[in-house]
Amino acid sequence: MPEPIRVVVTGAAGQISYSLLYMIAKGDVFGYEQPLILHLLDIPPMMDVLQGVVMELADCAIPLLREVIPTADPAVAFKDVSAAFLVGAMPRKQGMERKDLLSANVKIFKVQGEALDKYAKKDVKVLVVGNPANTNALICSKYAPSIPKENFTAMTRLDQNRAQAQVSAKIGVPVEQVSNVIIWGNHSSTQFPDASHAVVNLSGKQLTVAEVIKDDSWLRDTFVQIVQKRGAAVIAARKMSSALSAAKAATDHMRDWFQGTVYGKYVSMGVVSDGSYGVPKDLVFSFPVTIKNGQWSIVQGLTIDDFAKQKLAITGKELEEEKEEAVAIIQA
Ligand code: NAI
Repeated sequence: MPEPIRVVVTGAAGQISYSLLYMIAKGDVFGYEQPLILHLLDIPPMMDVLQGVVMELADCAIPLLREVIPTADPAVAFKDVSAAFLVGAMPRKQGMERKDLLSANVKIFKVQGEALDKYAKKDVKVLVVGNPANTNALICSKYAPSIPKENFTAMTRLDQNRAQAQVSAKIGVPVEQVSNVIIWGNHSSTQFPDASHAVVNLSGKQLTVAEVIKDDSWLRDTFVQIVQKRGAAVIAARKMSSALSAAKAATDHMRDWFQGTVYGKYVSMGVVSDGSYGVPKDLVFSFPVTIKNGQWSIVQGLTIDDFAKQKLAITGKELEEEKEEAVAIIQA
């Protein structure tokens, strides 16, 4: 068996972590042969709750889980970690816009960027889940200059999974038969869920989703809106934001980053823009990527029609505005 690796989860006493910790500990991300030491960070008032989570993890009797370190100290939390799940943040409540969250959350990610820079392994892979995820990831990276900026990503995998589930339900096939649905842009209501490059496996034949669904207005309008507003719909029903599905998406994102994507299939991740598809540089923007040897590459050469161009511009503009606001908050 290999040596244990250290993995930090922030917001470890919160509701996403309650599902996520079990998924990580049992091997869903790093494989079923890789022992782990889990570092759990939360804020001081949550330490009693966190102790309860630690007890439950012990009671799960998970063979791969070698040690659990609960803490409110970023210096302890980020020490020598190879992977960081940055979940801790203030969650969106009913009726609250994501922009309201920016001010509260951006400061947390500055502090955590500095701690990663100082204490984490230099090849640490960072997934930001806490909202506004894209801009938080950008800020975090800026304050961790000794770690490559490619190592900071934001989660749009929940949106991808939601989109894939909607398309598969519409066609009436199991979800794994649908692939290459893309989420472009921000993890917000301006995101562009795009099924125009998606494919479906129907009785062993690979067909495009567009030729199977044959309903342009559903794909361009209904589908896009369902996915964009799915988070709000879950909040309206549950009175709490998505947690189980967010945890599953975080494990999908990190598993693919560590273990690679299947040939011919791509996944969506918020990554630093290199200007591909006309997206402004120096934004964390969700692109379709493939992953090999722990390195992601943006899928090139996809046809972007005028409709898609317009959608990419809208979500890119929102991210530029968020970045400006975030920088202003930090510098104030
Ligand atoms: P929650 O409120 O249940 O848990 C958040 C935890 O973070 C709390 O225990 C809190 O004490 C902790 N926390 C706050 N500040 C912290 C800090 N500075 N350091 C460490 N921990 C800190 O929230 P939940 O439901 O677990 O959601 C967490 C975040 O994930 C929210 O920002 C939410 O909006 C976001 N989210 C993102 C999704 C995505 O697709 N990117 C999907 C769903 C949620």
